[in-house]
Amino acid sequence: MIASRASGKKLHIKTYGCQMNVYDSARMAEVLAPLGYAPSDSAEDADMVILNTCHIREKAAEKVYSELGRLKRWHGAKPASGERRILAVAGCVAQAEGAEILARAPYVDIVLGPQTYHRLPEMVAKATRQAGGVLDTDFPVEPKFDYLPTVSTAPGVGAFLSVQEGCDKFCTFCVVPYTRGAEYSRPAAAILAEARRLNELGAREITLLGQNVNAYRGVAPDGGAWGLGELIRAVAALPGLARIRYTTSHPCDVDDDLIAAHRDVPMLMPFLHLPVQSGSDRVLEAMNRRHTSHDYRRTVERLRAARPDLALSSDFIVGFPGESEADFAATLALVREIGFAQAFSFKYSPRPGTPAAAMPRQVPDAVKAERLAELQALLREQQRDFNAACIGRELPVLFERQGRHDGQLVGRSPYLQAVHAEAPAAAIGTVAKVRLTALGANSIAGEVVA
Ligand code: 5AD
Ligand code: SF4
Repeated sequence: MIASRASGKKLHIKTYGCQMNVYDSARMAEVLAPLGYAPSDSAEDADMVILNTCHIREKAAEKVYSELGRLKRWHGAKPASGERRILAVAGCVAQAEGAEILARAPYVDIVLGPQTYHRLPEMVAKATRQAGGVLDTDFPVEPKFDYLPTVSTAPGVGAFLSVQEGCDKFCTFCVVPYTRGAEYSRPAAAILAEARRLNELGAREITLLGQNVNAYRGVAPDGGAWGLGELIRAVAALPGLARIRYTTSHPCDVDDDLIAAHRDVPMLMPFLHLPVQSGSDRVLEAMNRRHTSHDYRRTVERLRAARPDLALSSDFIVGFPGESEADFAATLALVREIGFAQAFSFKYSPRPGTPAAAMPRQVPDAVKAERLAELQALLREQQRDFNAACIGRELPVLFERQGRHDGQLVGRSPYLQAVHAEAPAAAIGTVAKVRLTALGANSIAGEVVA
């Protein structure tokens, strides 16, 4: 161990962006636990703060600098322990703008990219010894997963498990291939061991995570190679788990075996986040998405043939450079045709260093705003219709935690809908049949069916 086992220190991690960051934050807390850092919900009384950042859109990156501004005073004040406070910036902004962070906020002690979390204890030791920021944004040859400790903290009923990282797709709008690096798939044996461990610690549902999760191609326990479909079957065969999900997928990497898994594995939930970004073939081509809107329709058709109750979610970008009214209309048409249970939509945000940022015919912000409002109105309507169609149905709900009112629990339906119902606390972690009765603002009301 690199540093002394000082105890009683508090660590606050603020997580921005995707579920991959949520997973990474939990791993960072685990590597710092042996140094005496215990998680804390507040930054104010913490000895160390980590901002785990997101660089996907400009707004996300800007938030980091305002938060650093707020933390300047905190950093200068001495905590109860009398030791110097440590401020670290992790994640994709750190990877993309490491030097700029140290220039704009010179009081930051540590800047580390997503691939070097296992070296965090060493960096903390260095930062306590020396003044001036420690910068570590390498893409080390040794995968970080080989060096991270086994999961030790209770993950909750629903747990994330990172199976794949990085992306080789290079969509022209996206920073991920630059911030997260090349695709890497963890060996299946390590994933299965972590899934077992998560289950022992109380997880009943596992979401397999990856920037491009269905490009998973990892070493199988017998030395061969597994795709995501095979991995899902193996996780499903572990005792104790109730549900499996995976995210985020690329339409091009939905292969026959994955579709077959949706047909054959009841534990694989009938809900799929499959970003399409646009319904216009011209725009899809300029985005380097490598598929047409017809390909997407066809993939959805095949998935629905395998699992007829499959609900879909997607990501959309409006106002990509050169997007015309006709292109945007094609997106609306695709949405109407497919019907989404849920979706995320964004105004195109030029990211420095990506090809699309330098493309001609950038769309004015007012046009982006108008298109986004129209698309979101349609998507909201579809989500409402989907939820409304579930009222009166009995669905299995996995209870995750206490609800807002006494005697109430909150859980998820197979379609990822939040459902609240009266049930004893002992039902947390179990699947109950629930009749959905009414749409609420943030969740659906239901009654447990005896
Ligand atoms: N501008 C707007 N949205 C973006 N996304 C990724 N990059 C950008 C960008 N430059 C969206 C995509 C992706 C989701 C995670 O974020 O829709 O699927
Ligand atoms: Fe970004 Fe495209 Fe890779 Fe998704 S598939 S992470 S949008 S480059």
